[in-house]
Amino acid sequence: MAKNDKASSNKSVATVASSSVQLGTAVEAPDRFVNPGFPEHRLRVTDLDPKKMKRAARIVGVLFYASILGSVFAVFAYMFFPIEDGSTTSVRLNTLFIGLGITFALLAIGIAAVHWGKAVMADHEGVDHRHPVRGTDATRARAVEIFKEANEESGFSRRTLIRNGMIGALIAFPLPAIALFRGLAPMNEDPNNLMKFTMWKAGTRLTADPTGVPIKASDVTIGSAFQVIPEGLVDLPEKEKLDAKAKAAVLLVRMKPEDYTWSSAERESWSYQGIVAYSKICTHVGCPVALYEQQTHHLLCPCHQSQFDIANESQVIFGPAARPLPQLPIYVDDEGYLRAQSDFTEPVGPSFWERSK
Ligand code: FES
Repeated sequence: MAKNDKASSNKSVATVASSSVQLGTAVEAPDRFVNPGFPEHRLRVTDLDPKKMKRAARIVGVLFYASILGSVFAVFAYMFFPIEDGSTTSVRLNTLFIGLGITFALLAIGIAAVHWGKAVMADHEGVDHRHPVRGTDATRARAVEIFKEANEESGFSRRTLIRNGMIGALIAFPLPAIALFRGLAPMNEDPNNLMKFTMWKAGTRLTADPTGVPIKASDVTIGSAFQVIPEGLVDLPEKEKLDAKAKAAVLLVRMKPEDYTWSSAERESWSYQGIVAYSKICTHVGCPVALYEQQTHHLLCPCHQSQFDIANESQVIFGPAARPLPQLPIYVDDEGYLRAQSDFTEPVGPSFWERSK
């Protein structure tokens, strides 16, 4: 009996297989759903009542005009609430009223556009069937003919003086923009040097940020991490101070010496009894890398989540950064103060410098 059951079951499987699966075709699932099509079209109130349609059209128009008022308000706010030197109140009022004007103008345009589309514009569903986009052979042949004619009539291939001159002119055309970019850096300084070097020099003491108080190695406890700046930075004029700090900010970390893995003895000599100093400027696009996870020794950049392993020469372990954070070589002087052995040995900041990596 069991033998018979098995045979009949095999037979039914074979029947199903042969009836539902054919070589070279897709398998059609028995529970395939039916295309529900469009839901039943419902007329809007503005379709049914001409008065409501008129009202909706009026609202859209009024919103657009209200937007104009918002823009004009922003311009007047710019004129009547100017920013005055040293007055934070004037900055607040200026940004507040200009912002309100622009916000109102954009909001009104947005609401008007949505309301126009939803309530006033014609409301019907249409079906646009796909069709091949390739032209017929005749159309394609004609297109080639047109190109040849245009080439012949313009003399593009024949008149090499004009053609080469035009290509040259178009290539040279953006060059003034590059020259203008040069103006972003001070004219009396080499922009390359500005990018490559920081305020750190051999012998510069590491000082606390923002007090500028020099730091002794004995002040740095195991497990601590804090921002330091070069000695003298706090005495710079405000503008120079910000520029210098943007490149020279360093994160000082102390871990147990045995927790580090060094690639060479020289690299190990850049640290002092477990104290290391790494650039705080992320090598992705330059945000300050400020979140230190004491247990894992990982440094996290909050901008795009790059993570650096402090225990392993700050190698990138996650995220878009392309290279480790540059390390500032440090030592301790006779009085116990931490000092830089030199500037960073590679440029700090975004990985523009190492594009090949
Ligand atoms: S700037 Fe740090 S991850 Fe992007």
